[in-house]
Amino acid sequence: MGQILVTGGVGYIGSHTVVELIEAGFEVCIIDNLSNSRIEVLDGIEKITGVRPVFEKIDLTDQQAVDHFFQKYPNIDSIIHFAASKAVGESVQKPTLYYRNNLVSLINLIDSMVKYQIPNFVFSSSCTVYGQPDELPVTEQAPIKKALSPYGNTKQISEEILQDSVQAFPGLKVISLRYFNPIGAHPSALIGELPLGVPANLVPFITQTAIGLRKELQVFGNDYNTPDGSCIRDYINVVDLAHAHVVAIRRLIEGKNKSTFEVFNIGTGKGLSVFEIINTFEKVTGVKLNYRVVGRRPGDVEKVWADTSYANKELGWKAEKTIEETLLSAWKWEQYIRQQKGFNE
Ligand code: WQD
Repeated sequence: MGQILVTGGVGYIGSHTVVELIEAGFEVCIIDNLSNSRIEVLDGIEKITGVRPVFEKIDLTDQQAVDHFFQKYPNIDSIIHFAASKAVGESVQKPTLYYRNNLVSLINLIDSMVKYQIPNFVFSSSCTVYGQPDELPVTEQAPIKKALSPYGNTKQISEEILQDSVQAFPGLKVISLRYFNPIGAHPSALIGELPLGVPANLVPFITQTAIGLRKELQVFGNDYNTPDGSCIRDYINVVDLAHAHVVAIRRLIEGKNKSTFEVFNIGTGKGLSVFEIINTFEKVTGVKLNYRVVGRRPGDVEKVWADTSYANKELGWKAEKTIEETLLSAWKWEQYIRQQKGFNE
């Protein structure tokens, strides 16, 4: 069995996937440019699994460096590609950085896969490609809508590049996993979502408010057409999400894919509102959250959650963890990381 390359493997979802791959018996190597992650995450992976994966600090937009990497590691037969810039708001301010980083990285990887005959590719995509779906829950057949941000557009364009590539290059086979809202941390609290800068996402902002790093949580609008007026999302535990990647890459390695480009929605199939998340967090942690309702955040979709029946049936994968244990894992991680040096800004 060949080695699996995980790009962005010391990032949030990447590091959790590396742990699950190692525990499933795969040999993993990691490429990361450390632009949004820390090398210390390798220590957490090693503490959990007893294995310290091979790590190379490479910028995937550097084609020569990418080619040299694959010459150095000829046993790679599969790639799980997480490495990308992913902050929606930042992408609006810096569109060319997002198009260059996210698209050129992907193109360099595809060129190397063709040159070195690496067949299996799992792509980290996002429910953001659906925009505000016309029907809920959203299925893989839902129309792709005009992206609401350059970040979302890079995910749409990346999927198109991959669809064209599997047509052009025989042997290449791809699974695109469209995530909903990944949250939580490994139950060991040894890896999690590294808090670098002010969090844009809800759950890290909640845990940083709860631990006293942030004065208050702002709830972006309570006048939506939802039961309690706040937005609804499909929050999926990051370890459940990591399991989906193990199942997907194994499907390709074993040749069980039914076409050369497959797409799966990876969520829980259940929508929860911002207020439900806040109330659940307070209930499971006993911590009272200081929050204030403010105006809507531009670009937010009102409600989106997944129809996961296709992934459940075809992949044989299902989200297992409850929202309660997931929010508790996020809180445990927040408390752990604040005891580490360099993280108590
Ligand atoms: C969730 C809800 C906010 C922060 C984004 C990307 C998506 C994926 C996940 C990369 C919304 C509300 C948030 C806060 C709040 N990223 N909120 N106060 O926007 O659904 O998805 O992150 O792959 O592609 O689009 O996630 O966590 O930012 O927001 O009220 O301080 O929480 O309005 O309703 P989002 P989020």
